[in-house]
Amino acid sequence: MFDHQFIEVEVKEKIAHIRLNRPKVLNALNRKMIHEIVHTMEAMDRDDNVKVILLYGNGKAFAAGADIGEMAEDTAVNLEVLNQFADWDRLAQVKKPIIGAVHGFALGGGFELALVCDLLFAAEDVKFGFPEINLAVMPGAGGTQRLTKLMGKTKALEWLWSGEMMSAQEALQYRIINHTFPKEIVIDETIKYARKLAEMPSLSVRFIKEAVYKAVDYSLYEGMQYERKNFSLLFATEDQKEGMKAFLEKRRPNFKGQ
Ligand code: CAA
Repeated sequence: MFDHQFIEVEVKEKIAHIRLNRPKVLNALNRKMIHEIVHTMEAMDRDDNVKVILLYGNGKAFAAGADIGEMAEDTAVNLEVLNQFADWDRLAQVKKPIIGAVHGFALGGGFELALVCDLLFAAEDVKFGFPEINLAVMPGAGGTQRLTKLMGKTKALEWLWSGEMMSAQEALQYRIINHTFPKEIVIDETIKYARKLAEMPSLSVRFIKEAVYKAVDYSLYEGMQYERKNFSLLFATEDQKEGMKAFLEKRRPNFKGQ
């Protein structure tokens, strides 16, 4: 177990568990907490013992947004100088799979943090939303961009302008989350999936992630060029040789992540 002020971190069976841990304020994200999350994600990304990163919240919520108390007296100049969202950009650079297990509330910055995850497994009670408009601000950590890429401009504007909360069913319909589960089992189900993913050849997992994100940002042609390079590159790995040999020898492959 690693020591942090606002998160708990534990590595078990190739899976890193990062738990947001400010339950009294529904895991409201202050800057130090974001810093801890980013640092930990990067450390886990470099750690050979970790194959998958899980992110979830202690207490009643995943995260009810950025810490409003910390932000209330901010000025435009000090936000610009702080450049706090640079930390969020680093989260998107993590190469290993990040799976979020969300429950309770995922609002504002909490929703943005969920949207940084590659997959989202959600408790049936979860409420997503961007209530920033009620505070006379707007999302600043990717919310307008990632939500729009997932659900399209028309629906994204409707949600962002209303500030209302979206149910798990709605989030499923808009392809924001992968699955819903009863609250009591959502973490266990997420771990179950993570265990399977942790056994996959890790360079394939990594290159597939990279290529899929290119599909979000690149044209089809550019994305296909990128995919092709990653495809070829995998033929430089021991796992590719082992995977194909094992198939031909009718046995289970023994992947090493190399
Ligand atoms: N920042 C700071 N404190 C927060 C918080 C936040 N985002 N969300 C909740 N809390 C605190 C509450 O102030 C309360 O503290 P006290 O016990 O000291 O009063 C505690 O957490 C529990 O919250 P509530 O009593 O309000 O719980 P509830 O169940 O009645 O309501 C809620 C839950 C609807 C989520 C409500 O807490 C709420 O509306 N929270 C704010 C949500 C929000 O506006 N988030 C967006 C923030 S802006 C942002 O995120 C910007 C960005 O893009 C980076």
